[in-house]
Amino acid sequence: MDQPDILIIGCGIAGLSLALKAAVHGQVLVLSKKGAEESNTRYAQGGVAAVFDRADSYADHARDTLRAGAGLCDVAVVRQVVREGPERVRELAALGVPLDRDRRGFALGREGGHSRRRIVHASDFTGMAIAQTLVERVRAHPRIHLIENQVAVDLIIDSRLRGRRDAAGRDTCWGAYVLDTASGEIRPVTARVTALATGGCGKVYLYTTNPDVATGDGLAMAYRAGLPVADLEFVQFHPTCLFHPRAKSFLLSEALRGEGALLRTLDGTRFMPAYHPLAELAPRDVVARAIDREMKRRGERHVYLDMSSRSAARIRERFPNIHAALLEYGFDLTREPIPVVPAAHYMCGGIVADLAGRTAMRGLLGLGEVARTGLHGANRLASNSLLEALVCAHHAAGEVARRLRTVRRVPRAQPWSARGTRPPYESVVVEHNWDTVRRVMWDLVGIVRTDERLDFAARRLALLSEDIELDYQRLRLHADLIELRNIALVGSLIVRAARARRESRGLHYNLDHPRLVAALARRRPRLRLRPPRAALT
Ligand code: FAD
Ligand code: SIN
Repeated sequence: MDQPDILIIGCGIAGLSLALKAAVHGQVLVLSKKGAEESNTRYAQGGVAAVFDRADSYADHARDTLRAGAGLCDVAVVRQVVREGPERVRELAALGVPLDRDRRGFALGREGGHSRRRIVHASDFTGMAIAQTLVERVRAHPRIHLIENQVAVDLIIDSRLRGRRDAAGRDTCWGAYVLDTASGEIRPVTARVTALATGGCGKVYLYTTNPDVATGDGLAMAYRAGLPVADLEFVQFHPTCLFHPRAKSFLLSEALRGEGALLRTLDGTRFMPAYHPLAELAPRDVVARAIDREMKRRGERHVYLDMSSRSAARIRERFPNIHAALLEYGFDLTREPIPVVPAAHYMCGGIVADLAGRTAMRGLLGLGEVARTGLHGANRLASNSLLEALVCAHHAAGEVARRLRTVRRVPRAQPWSARGTRPPYESVVVEHNWDTVRRVMWDLVGIVRTDERLDFAARRLALLSEDIELDYQRLRLHADLIELRNIALVGSLIVRAARARRESRGLHYNLDHPRLVAALARRRPRLRLRPPRAALT
């Protein structure tokens, strides 16, 4: 099915929810880079933030979101997302996601930055429950086709295809070139509407909570197609990732701190009360910076998350997944403190889009973590991301219907040409560049930044990008090389955005500009870059 009405690139909560809602309007093709359930969505633990508690209100949820966002949220977007939250969560439950309940309705957890209990969850594996249910529904749907192991390489756009833009100078998207990782072939997949739902870019950093698929592909593709991207300097670091040589990216949910877990240095001292009145439940940027500071000050490689004073039965009942996983690593959450470190977790910025996923390009929607709608501003409030994806998917389906009504024919795309390329050489070069990009980002563009480190990172990434681009032009493409090119580009964009913001705000903290500059809330630097040279011939 290489000519669906609707092409959705990405199989997380955003892509799957859109597929289910858009299928009433046409034939849908959903592509997933690896297995259908391998996505950031699958690893979400905490849950979905929404107002259900009688003591809670939309105004409170909006206020907490705005406070975390440090002056850069779009207030109208925040209000709309918060107001629609409960209805979207009820829809999830109606689809069959086994959300926990108590005698008052949905059982509600608490997380950092939230002034109320408002996290709807499915035990401590909310993401897995959502992913499994949505994938099941999508697979059973007669008008949705899901194909795994497909890597979108670049968008098919009018200005490259037919040298055209519309009267207003806008480009149109007609699908994407897609690599089938089993056959190694790249083919054009054309559609009347294309949606980028490719998720985040945690793999740009050496240490991350994200799975391997999170390489910022959608962001890179959109940027290469000339779309504006914004707020990329706001990379969220989750404070508590397991510190263990065998654990690649195991998260210890903020919900643990919501239920009383404390942060301690190696000598057992609790340190968060000295940093913020909400102590362990302060917003994530504050907690991550405090851990970073304590580790650097004391020369220690991790801190502890300690839940051992809580009831063991309650811990086992509320956090069965985390408890069992930790036992496999040799730690008992009910009896001992667990070593943790911060790790790159979430990209608050992205492709500039509205709540219906509309971007600056006709025929192209962007939703989920890949998009920047204005909900998160300079720092995302915990558990607002799954919520945002649900709200956007709902409205994007309406946008799909509108587009299908107005567009009837899709131009023919040229086949992908691999002329002049040769088989890739030893993978050691790609691996080396992968590690280097990620280490540069971790060492120089992390939780605390300086001008000098950012300048150094920019120079290192520019050199690496030149080499990578050369390989991209002359070697036969494979998934690792495509992803490497994307992480190098996204890393460079993060650095550019960070260098442009000459203040400290939300997740962006620069020792050379430690203060927040009020006027900059109004002048957000947006990177709108020249359309890159045609790379698709
Ligand atoms: P994803 O779920 O990441 O899906 C992206 C999809 O795109 C994948 O299927 C991938 O294969 C596909 N893809 C990527 N590139 C390509 C390509 N080139 N070609 C084809 N397909 C491609 N948020 C909350 O609100 N609450 C939480 O409790 C929570 N916990 C989290 C815990 C962890 C460990 C992590 C990592 C994140 C957590 N988040 C949480 C954030 C949240 O899970 C994500 O932001 C959200 O799931 C993103 O959904 P998405 O659909 O946009 O992308
Ligand atoms: C967590 O469970 O701590 C993650 C929640 C989130 O990222 O929103």
